[in-house]
Amino acid sequence: MSGASPLPEPPIPRARAAPIYAVASGKGGVGKTWLSTMLSIAFGRAGQRTLLVDCDLGLANVDVQLGVRPTADVHSVVRGFLELDSAVTPVLGGPGRNGGFDLIAGHSGSGALGSVKLEEVGRIATGLVKLAPHYDRILLDLAAGIDPTVLRFARAADKLILVTTEEPTALTDAYAMVKLMRLQGAPIMPYVIVNMAENRAKGRKVFEQFAKACNEYLGFRPKFAGAIGRDPRVPDSIRAQTPLPIRHPQSQAYEDVVRIVEVLNAG
Ligand SMILES: Nc1ncnc2c1ncn2[C@@H]1O[C@H](COP(=O)(O)OP(=O)(O)OP(=O)(O)O)[C@@H](O)[C@H]1O
Ligand SMILES: [Mg+2]
Repeated sequence: MSGASPLPEPPIPRARAAPIYAVASGKGGVGKTWLSTMLSIAFGRAGQRTLLVDCDLGLANVDVQLGVRPTADVHSVVRGFLELDSAVTPVLGGPGRNGGFDLIAGHSGSGALGSVKLEEVGRIATGLVKLAPHYDRILLDLAAGIDPTVLRFARAADKLILVTTEEPTALTDAYAMVKLMRLQGAPIMPYVIVNMAENRAKGRKVFEQFAKACNEYLGFRPKFAGAIGRDPRVPDSIRAQTPLPIRHPQSQAYEDVVRIVEVLNAG
């Protein structure tokens, strides 16, 4: 699976461009990249044409998790070599009900994050807006941390998906992320996903604590998109570079993702 392909014309004229979801967390290693790929597959299976953009400009790994070899990446776009639409790599046959989607890969190991200017991130954001009419859903897999480039990408999105685990450090960092975005005036109401939860009930409880803190100190209550259980099939499928629902057609973690997509699609 490789090679950039020209974008097909949208099959039917869309009244509205695709909503852009930023998948963010603050803390690293909570499952943003894995979840972004699963959401892309689940949106596809629900009939939505999806584009996933790896916005981790320093240590990208969507393509590594999926075992695809892109010929172009978002870094070329940052440097102005390619227009965003010629940097698209179709995954699992491209957008379709089989769970395929389009990917704009990141640039692994470039170490370029430090030198990426905010205006360059802005250029990617502008390109995304141009692509939006071709898709039903656009997902941005963000880097960890809360530096200005991460926040700039998050502000380019219409919706924020905040990923946390049950760990206090992940919750604190997720809180810092929403607080900073609010301080910057972004009127985003985040969806929260508790990943690697012991079970769904525990995940919900952790969300309630988080929501209470947001309500008390920031004056709003985030939405609960759902919890995903810790599932050994997840690292197994990543090691095999095969998407979870293909390697393990029955898995609790993917079932949890499908429920989350239902919540997201319900708006
Ligand atoms: N539900 C889950 N059950 C078990 N393991 C999981 C689950 N979700 C993620 N993981 C594990 O967590 C690891 C980190 O996931 P991932 O790389 O997606 O995190 P990330 O938030 O994107 O990290 P980074 O901040 O470095 O970009 C994966 O290698 C995977 O094995
Ligand atoms: Mg990641």
